[in-house]
Amino acid sequence: MYKRILIVGANGLVGQKLTEIFSRDRAFDLLISARQSEAYNKAASFGYVQLDATNLAAVKELVWNFAPDFIINAAAYTDVDGCEREKELSWRANVSAVENLVAASRLVGARVVHISTDYVFDGKAGPYDETATPNPLSYYGKEKLASENAVRASGENWLIVRTMVVFGVAPKVKKNFAIWLAQELQQGRRVNVVSDQIGNATLADDLARGIYELVRHNKRGLYHVAGADILSRYEFAQKLADAFGFDKSLVNPIKTADLNQLAPRPLRSGLITLKAQAELGITFLSSDEAIAIFKRQFLESASAQSRQ
Ligand SMILES: NC(=O)c1ccc[n+]([C@@H]2O[C@H](COP(=O)([O-])OP(=O)(O)OC[C@H]3O[C@@H](n4cnc5c(N)ncnc54)[C@H](OP(=O)(O)O)[C@@H]3O)[C@@H](O)[C@H]2O)c1
Repeated sequence: MYKRILIVGANGLVGQKLTEIFSRDRAFDLLISARQSEAYNKAASFGYVQLDATNLAAVKELVWNFAPDFIINAAAYTDVDGCEREKELSWRANVSAVENLVAASRLVGARVVHISTDYVFDGKAGPYDETATPNPLSYYGKEKLASENAVRASGENWLIVRTMVVFGVAPKVKKNFAIWLAQELQQGRRVNVVSDQIGNATLADDLARGIYELVRHNKRGLYHVAGADILSRYEFAQKLADAFGFDKSLVNPIKTADLNQLAPRPLRSGLITLKAQAELGITFLSSDEAIAIFKRQFLESASAQSRQ
């Protein structure tokens, strides 16, 4: 029997990749939603509804009418330093919206599938598995932990997927770490990259595949889904430069403290993904594999733009 899936925040990077993978599988009846008037992802076979997840009445109405089996939440206020400046606004998107989805899910018995982050950890002793105790450093991390708790408090019918350093290419998405790097290095510009932030970098397509497999296997509970290798941002940047054939010496290692960012970052982070891999019988992409796919997407998107 096919399952009904509602994706919220479908115009973000992860939302678009989720749309792609679920829309390819006829076992799912897909409805996607985002704040904009249209879907950025033009993959076939899904309906689209405009939805701001902070609007409880609108969320309830949509969920009641569509009666999904799964509500996948890819919406969030993801500007980590912005969260420190705009606490109320970011809380509404990162916590209140999740509470709305949880409340609406109860109307129809839907499972809430929520995406969280390694920023719930302090980065003192990563990598972390699903049993590790969170201790967020930043306001964003606190919000994401509060959103996890809102989902957990809803009962048994939930799935939380923590991931980290998500990168990839999709129409009109915010510039992520890998896109920024590739664009700068392509122009021959020097880039400062932190060598003391350690963890897994995750291709958005691979994260979407992990979430898709968790849903397909009807999993509940907490899972870590991230790229296979644990490495520093600097090491990642060097690999990316190598893969593209850019000048590696343009990548200059710096320390996180030199950036004077508003939000503190977990440094020795990383997510252990053995639970998901063992239960699903899959492996996540190595950084070399992920960068090779990213490179193809980046070059395709650049050539499509130059044709327009
Ligand atoms: N990116 C990472 O490195 C990373 C790491 C760990 C976890 N995550 C988590 O992964 C999830 C997806 O993030 P992403 O990387 O895809 O980020 P993204 O590209 O910034 O996408 C987030 C989307 O959420 C939308 N949104 C914000 N507030 C909304 C609201 N009230 N109603 C509906 N949509 C709303 C945004 O729309 P607008 O464009 O209209 O603002 C944006 O399209 C988030 O839960 C994030 O916390 C991301």
